[in-house]
Amino acid sequence: MKIAIGSDHAGLTLKRALLASVLKGLDIVDLGTDSRHAVDYPDIGHRLAKSVASGQYERGILICGTGIGMAMTANKTCGIRAANCSDTYSAEMSVRHNDANVLCLGSRTLGPALAERIVKVWLNTQFDGGRHAERVNKIELCS
Ligand code: RB5
Repeated sequence: MKIAIGSDHAGLTLKRALLASVLKGLDIVDLGTDSRHAVDYPDIGHRLAKSVASGQYERGILICGTGIGMAMTANKTCGIRAANCSDTYSAEMSVRHNDANVLCLGSRTLGPALAERIVKVWLNTQFDGGRHAERVNKIELCS
């Protein structure tokens, strides 16, 4: 699975921790930021969302202070279903029932150990399909 990851300055430390642990050895590309200088999270969020929606990557992970701004941003792109998760159950269900293709995390709301577990569960879960597919299709009302 080809994966993209991105963060703003607030998410940089957690992003690096995940890349060095649960994401190590996976086919993953970091779309920035790579410095502690403040950046606007929508710039990174839109970049990643467009690359996932175009099919360049199957899934994406976005990290900011809370995960909220990244989720709001990513969900503006048609075809993106971004889920801001702070527990493993939500991470699992976001894929099984909602076919989430972007996971958003908050570096200021999650410790690295929990974030690692969330990422692991999310990457190892598949969409259930069936009745959920019809519902997911109804999400797409982008004009
Ligand atoms: C940056 O200070 C912070 O606002 C950002 O990382 C994010 O939490 C926004 O949703």
